[in-house]
Amino acid sequence: MISVRSLSKQYGSVRAVDGVSFDVEPGKVTGFLGPNGAGKSTTMRVVMGLDRPTSGTATIHGRRYVDLAAPLREVGALLDAGAMHPGRTGRAHLRIGARSNGIARSRVEEVIAEVGLGKAAGRRIKGYSLGMRQRLGIAAALLGDPPVLLFDEPVNGLDLDGVRWVRTLLRGFADEGRTVLVSSHLMSEMQLIADRVVIIGRGRLIADADIDQVLRGLGGQRVRVRTPRADALGQLLADRGVVERTAPGELEVTGLPASEIGDLAHARGVPVHHLAEVEQSLEHAYLSLTEDSVDYHGRPAEPIANGATR
Ligand SMILES: Nc1ncnc2c1ncn2[C@@H]1O[C@H](COP(=O)(O)OP(=O)(O)O)[C@@H](O)[C@H]1O
Ligand SMILES: [Mg+2]
Repeated sequence: MISVRSLSKQYGSVRAVDGVSFDVEPGKVTGFLGPNGAGKSTTMRVVMGLDRPTSGTATIHGRRYVDLAAPLREVGALLDAGAMHPGRTGRAHLRIGARSNGIARSRVEEVIAEVGLGKAAGRRIKGYSLGMRQRLGIAAALLGDPPVLLFDEPVNGLDLDGVRWVRTLLRGFADEGRTVLVSSHLMSEMQLIADRVVIIGRGRLIADADIDQVLRGLGGQRVRVRTPRADALGQLLADRGVVERTAPGELEVTGLPASEIGDLAHARGVPVHHLAEVEQSLEHAYLSLTEDSVDYHGRPAEPIANGATR
């Protein structure tokens, strides 16, 4: 169990984390989501004792990282896959970690096999691809067979096989009863692997809920309509629901059932070429939740009449 309580971290004038509290429970994959610069990595570094909080606490099983006697046995983390000595071999990197934590050498070979590093373990890290570094980083996190695991953007730079592998691995850890916190800005990825999501934006907590709750609780059902008279239909619908123009001749409507949209269009003689409920996605939920907390984004969707966007 990881507990974050009223955590804040100030870097000069930047408040990277601002009064965040949440728990990460065992037996589940908890996704840690937020736009770039939201404060995910900072929070994870504080949990791992690599950064000192300005105020608040982050504990593992009730204790701060610095107070853990054999930290690798209690918590494993993949934070920055680049932070390894390039001149060492993967195996040497792992042996150093094992030795400093009183872990048997045989365990090094076990984790090398578990992450599929194989022959590459004997090569210098400077020749590793990003994917191989990620595998090595995960091997290091697993050395002490810890009950708590943190992964900061573990699928970054991985090919499709690598992504699938990480997904299966995280699911397996959670199913074994471990506590798994994994950050990502890839909503589609989170939707596939997380049971719970903690969402932050500009250092503040935006949501902390089961993924199903997040998907269900946001804005209601969306319906996509394609019509050659998008302006006319948009005007008609804007009084009744929230209308967004998603493409030329295409609208997305929230707050109105598809049947009502179809009936209304029919009654006013507006031809409809396509009418379907849109499957709720975490991506959409995330966008509506983080809209006000995104520092960098493209042009927002164009509002129609008096209907608000999104
Ligand atoms: N060591 C640091 N010194 C100064 N500012 C930092 C440092 N680390 C992070 N920040 C700032 O804190 C904010 C949060 O960053 P970070 O935790 O890396 O976000 P995320 O991982 O969600 O993208 C950003 O504005 C970032 O520029
Ligand atoms: Mg980060």
